[in-house]
Amino acid sequence: MAKKLLIVAHAPSPNTELLAAALLRGTQHPDIENVTCELRSPFDCDAELVLEQDAVVLFTTENFGYMSGALKDFFERIYYPCLEQPKRNESKPFALVVRAGLDGTGTDIAVHKITSGLKWREVQPMLLCHGDHRDEFIQQCEELGLTMAAGLDNGIF
Ligand SMILES: Cc1cc2nc3c(=O)[nH]c(=O)nc-3n(C[C@H](O)[C@H](O)[C@H](O)COP(=O)(O)O)c2cc1C
Repeated sequence: MAKKLLIVAHAPSPNTELLAAALLRGTQHPDIENVTCELRSPFDCDAELVLEQDAVVLFTTENFGYMSGALKDFFERIYYPCLEQPKRNESKPFALVVRAGLDGTGTDIAVHKITSGLKWREVQPMLLCHGDHRDEFIQQCEELGLTMAAGLDNGIF
């Protein structure tokens, strides 16, 4: 059966939409054989969808020094239902991408507090797309998508 990878992306602007699309494009590299990937807004995800996944990529802007309200709402809805199913939840491989104009620290700390509580396993260093939008961010996101899909495809995660 194909492995499942979910990209939970809050992308409120044309630039952030490009980054979310690049994450997905990376997972669709021709070398990836046995991974299906879905890109969804946090508002369109629930705990059952998360529990079905073999890995998750979280993408959020930093807003007011914190993760987006959309991602926080996502965590609030999935947190306890996921903890109630430890076999399908614990050690879930994940990666975090933060798009921050100014900082990113608040989002880094806040998301990692929650993923620690969830007992998820971070399998890539956090990608911080920091400052004014640059084309380099698109390439970095595509690479992260590819790395996550390849890790699942090869049974590394
Ligand atoms: C309401 C709001 C609050 C924001 N707060 C922060 C913040 O606290 N720290 C930060 O680094 N960037 C902040 N930003 C910038 C965003 O993280 C991010 O850079 C932006 O949404 C993406 O911009 P772009 O589409 O121009 O690339 C904020 C943006 C908005 C709309």
